[in-house]
Amino acid sequence: MNQVVDKPLSINDISAMKRRGEKITCLTAYDASFAAIIDKAGIDIMLVGDSLGMVIQGHSTTVPVTIEQMVYHAQCVSRARRRAYLIADMPFMTYGNPDLAAKNAAQLLQVGGAQMVKLEGAKVDCVRFLVEQGIPVCGHLGLLPQSIHQLGTYSVQGKEPKAAQKLRDDAQKLQEAGASLLVLECVPATLAKAISTEITIPVIGIGAGVDCDGQVLVLYDMLNIGVSKRPRFSKNFMTGCDGVEEAIQAYFHAVKNTEFPSLEHSF
Ligand code: KIV
Repeated sequence: MNQVVDKPLSINDISAMKRRGEKITCLTAYDASFAAIIDKAGIDIMLVGDSLGMVIQGHSTTVPVTIEQMVYHAQCVSRARRRAYLIADMPFMTYGNPDLAAKNAAQLLQVGGAQMVKLEGAKVDCVRFLVEQGIPVCGHLGLLPQSIHQLGTYSVQGKEPKAAQKLRDDAQKLQEAGASLLVLECVPATLAKAISTEITIPVIGIGAGVDCDGQVLVLYDMLNIGVSKRPRFSKNFMTGCDGVEEAIQAYFHAVKNTEFPSLEHSF
């Protein structure tokens, strides 16, 4: 059962959605105009993703994105935010140690207007330190796009039992370190379901099956306006819709009603 909250959402509202079994909706946003549409459609979380390096800047990876650029886009989105909870990505090499992470995360909150930062990998020391400073953190496990030059290819993670167990352990460690949310990207649906059950913080999936506590997609992929090929786990929500507002509403309803992702969009 969805409970409509008109006031600006806090992390407590997002956590309560998991507890009552309401799916959490999230989309990436990079500018004020799209952010206003996303917010008005009732999407629960806007993520200023470093995917902007690919969909806005035209790079082939997220690696070139800088903290200054993330702060700028977070500012653009936060000016349009009325209700949705706002998370911003920490870009590549901005959280190599806890002090560096705190300095850069503070920029995203103080100047960018974000309410939470997201960082890739099991960076437990950084997460713990940020949380101690009062900075809410979203972890990100599974496919880590900032490590693409190490990975070689954007592929499904956690398929082998050992890799799957490591993801389960890392999810626990991030929760213990104080993370409030976890994004799981490109992992088998059964593994994502297990992790979502094992930890109490909400798990937001992308290419991770329908049993996560919520879903996120890159806005330009689901509107089918990206410069590169849409990933298999994403879906063109413009099909059969009259415009952007309708497509975002279709995504909202599909996630809340567990109609998305279907098996076709899962691994
Ligand atoms: O940068 C981004 O858009 C992301 C999502 C893919 C989760 O991290």
